[in-house]
Amino acid sequence: PLPTLLSLAFGYLLGSIPFGLLLTRMAGLGDVRKIGSGNIGATNVLRTGNKKLAAATLLLDALKGTAAAAIASRFGLEAGIAAGFAAFMGHLFPVWLGFKGGKGVATYLGILLGLVPFMLAVFAAIWVSVAYLTRYSSLSALVATAACPVVLWFTGYEEVAVLFAVMTLITWIKHRANISRLLRGTESRIGDKG
Ligand code: G3P
Repeated sequence: PLPTLLSLAFGYLLGSIPFGLLLTRMAGLGDVRKIGSGNIGATNVLRTGNKKLAAATLLLDALKGTAAAAIASRFGLEAGIAAGFAAFMGHLFPVWLGFKGGKGVATYLGILLGLVPFMLAVFAAIWVSVAYLTRYSSLSALVATAACPVVLWFTGYEEVAVLFAVMTLITWIKHRANISRLLRGTESRIGDKG
């Protein structure tokens, strides 16, 4: 149906805006893909040493997911889910960057906020706890994204839980280099320079 197709296109276009790359370029910091992990996300922008820019990347990468999901949701949950998923895929696989995008964590969080607002607190509590204990951004994201589909399922959001289970799986696959570094003990911690 048309609303679903439009939601997919709208979500993808919003999601594919690479804020981390744009902001670091505009700030004259060069290409963020050439430092640290090479990722375009907030964690890697932080490795430039510019905390404000990292915070702005996190916020904008999240809000594009929130906007896609919340706006499309006005046409029903199915449209909201379609736009949210498309925004996520747009962030991970932006046509503008040869389909080499981010790892999805901020956008995942933003979509969650757009569809089931209270889940922001659940995600944030888990992410912050793991980050406080370990200082690993990647591990915090892996644990938080593992928990979200389970919490959604048991709080009565079964359809959204299925969407997030798929997105968690894709996020984990995108973190495969981080996972092997975590296992080898060589993953960089928050605060370490790339
Ligand atoms: O949100 C991405 C984070 O989990 C890992 O980023 O740059 O350390 O690979 P990075």
